[in-house]
Amino acid sequence: MHAWWSPDDSVSFLEAELLRAFPGRSLRRLAPGFLGIDEVPEAGMLPMAFAGQALPNAESVAVPSIRVMAEALAQRILDHFPDDAPWRMDVTPCFGQGTAGEHRCAMIDEAVVEILRKRRRSRLRTRLTAPGPVVPNESWLQLLLTSQESAVLSVAPSPVAHAWRSGLVPFPLGRIPVAVDKAAPSRAFAKLVESEFRLGARIQAGETVVDLGACPGSWTYVAVRRGARVTSVDRTELREDLMRNPNVTFHRGDAFSFQPSAPVDWLVCDVIAAPDRSIGLAIDWVRKGWARRFVVTIKFKGVEEYPKLDRLKLELAPLCSEFRLARLCANKNEASVIGSCPLPDAGRQ
Ligand SMILES: C[S@@+](CC[C@H](N)C(=O)[O-])C[C@H]1O[C@@H](n2cnc3c(N)ncnc32)[C@H](O)[C@@H]1O
Repeated sequence: MHAWWSPDDSVSFLEAELLRAFPGRSLRRLAPGFLGIDEVPEAGMLPMAFAGQALPNAESVAVPSIRVMAEALAQRILDHFPDDAPWRMDVTPCFGQGTAGEHRCAMIDEAVVEILRKRRRSRLRTRLTAPGPVVPNESWLQLLLTSQESAVLSVAPSPVAHAWRSGLVPFPLGRIPVAVDKAAPSRAFAKLVESEFRLGARIQAGETVVDLGACPGSWTYVAVRRGARVTSVDRTELREDLMRNPNVTFHRGDAFSFQPSAPVDWLVCDVIAAPDRSIGLAIDWVRKGWARRFVVTIKFKGVEEYPKLDRLKLELAPLCSEFRLARLCANKNEASVIGSCPLPDAGRQ
């Protein structure tokens, strides 16, 4: 079985998304917020926009004691995770209020480490603790406590974790801390920073960026601070300092009719528009090879529009080497489609 976890306010949307993705299958409710499906085909590796975290190879387990659980986890790591390869372990409470279960989770984590130290110390050297993109030989273990005595366990040895990377977020329950920068023109800058994190790629010095719907300029601000050259498109001018920045070319006009003179490294688009238009724009730019990487916000007026995201999985994901679709932690009222589609280097702007 594979499962997904979603925060309370999104479970019904995740349920609908799963039923659309896997028609005819029945869902298993493992615990509040956890939905599972048996025998998910390849498509299961596509991201679920309304899931906070994917849980490949999931099962419900009893947690009779810290020691028994830690023994079981250590054994899984020793038996299933390749030697000398990176692995992550996340033991997180997912029930009750406030700090419920946190102490128990910390004790389980410590007990696993202690067992590994005694049985195969070298394993501890390859444990990843800093957040980062899922690499090809990485293995994942997630234990999400659903009460003091029960949990959902997900074990994804290499290469399963990498195959599921579009839905695996290297923070407990997929909760990426929202970035803060008071000098940015608006808090929208956090959406671009989170999108880069999800993709595992950052805008680099010397790269070219087109920012559609750029005003007041937070996304342009992020890109120029990284040393990129940005063409910012909007009907309204950006904050004054950005308008004067030599690395910013402002283009007053319609985002949907803008065409780059040559392919760029990044398309970033935060235009306020109907979902169909933003979805169409993302697909169009990728099909035409106009951008190597993209971050496009899909804004919703109502929940009935959520199924429109499915088109991105069908039409855009197959064109991409990396594809993410998520409601960002930095903004829950919209979804972001993020991806990479390598282009030849020649001919870029
Ligand atoms: C949410 S704001 C963008 C915020 C921006 N990402 C930032 O971080 O500062 C949306 C912008 O889209 C612009 N916009 C809406 N429709 C547009 C269109 N058809 N062409 C160009 N800009 C458009 C609006 O003028 C507005 O400035």
